[in-house]
Amino acid sequence: MHVFVSRTLPGDGLARLAREHDVEVWPGALPPAPGELLARVAGADALICLLTDAIDGALIDGAPRLRAISNMAAGYDNIDVAAATERRIPVGNTPGVLTETTADLAFALILACARRIVEADRFVREGRWRTWDPGLLLGHDVHGATLGIVGFGEIGRAVARRARGFDMRVLYASRTRVAADEGAAQVDLDTLLRESDVVSLHTPLTAETTHLIGARELALMKRTGILVNTARGGLVDQAALARALGGGTIGAAGLDVAEVEPIPAGDPLLAAPNIVLLPHIGSASHATRSRMAEMAVDNCLAGLAGRRLPNCANPEVYGDGA
Ligand code: DGY
Repeated sequence: MHVFVSRTLPGDGLARLAREHDVEVWPGALPPAPGELLARVAGADALICLLTDAIDGALIDGAPRLRAISNMAAGYDNIDVAAATERRIPVGNTPGVLTETTADLAFALILACARRIVEADRFVREGRWRTWDPGLLLGHDVHGATLGIVGFGEIGRAVARRARGFDMRVLYASRTRVAADEGAAQVDLDTLLRESDVVSLHTPLTAETTHLIGARELALMKRTGILVNTARGGLVDQAALARALGGGTIGAAGLDVAEVEPIPAGDPLLAAPNIVLLPHIGSASHATRSRMAEMAVDNCLAGLAGRRLPNCANPEVYGDGA
C-alpha cells in the first residue's frame, strides 16, 4: 500500500515501514504547501504527518483511500478529527514518550526566565561584563516560589515532580478533579494566576482553551510573575502578552510555542522585553524524537493492516465503546 510521509523522520521507523509498503517521503526541509499535500495524499492509503500539516476536512475528502492518519505528535489540533471520524479514519498520535522531555524544557524556561539566563549570556558576549556587581542581573528565586500549573495531565504532573525538588509550592487548575499525588493543591484558574510566581501551561488547544490566557488573566498575575508555555501557542493571546510585558503587567515569559509558527517578522513578541523564545523544541531530544517516529510508524502499520491503532485519538471509529 502507498504511504505519504510529510517529512523525513529520525530513527529507523521509515525503513521498517518501507519493508512492507510503498513509502513516499516529502523531500523538503519545509512542510509541503497545502495544495502539494493534497496532491500527495490524494492516492495514499495512509498518511504520516506532523503538527505543521493542516489536515482539514477538504484534504480528508480528497483522499478516498485513506485508512489511517498518523500524527508524529502528542497534540493533534492540526487535524480535523471530527472529519476523520466521520469517514471512520483512525487518527494516531504519540503521547507519553515526550512527557519527561517536555517537562524538562518547561523547567529550563522557568529557570531561564527567573534567573535571566539568556539576557546574562548576551551580556557576556556583548563585552559588557566589567566587574562583579552586587546589583547585576538580579532575578527571582525559583526554590520556594509558587508554581501554578494549568492542565494537570501527564506533562503538568511531570513538571510538578520537578518542582518538588526545588521546594516549590505547587498549585494546579484542571477541569477535572485530579488526585493531588504530587503534593499539589487544586485551585480555580483565577486563584492560581493571583497566587503563582510562575504559571506554566500544559493543556491541549481546543475551542474552549483558545486564548485561555488573555489581557484579563495576565492582569491577575503578579507584576513579577512569569508565564511559561510549552503546550500550544493558541492558549495565549500573544498581542495581549506583548502588551503585558511592555507595560510591566507581568515580569517575564518563556514560550516554546507560538500562535503562528514560526513567529512572523515584525510580531510585537519579538520586540517585547523579558521574553525567552524557543522554536517548539519541547520534545526535541534524540531519544524522544526517535521514539515518537517509531510510534507514528506503529500507528500507521496498524491502520494499514486494519488493526486498532496503539495510540488512537478517535477510538470511537472502532465502534466498540473501548
Ligand atoms: C507534541 O507532540 O504535541 C509536541 O508539541 C511536539 O512534540
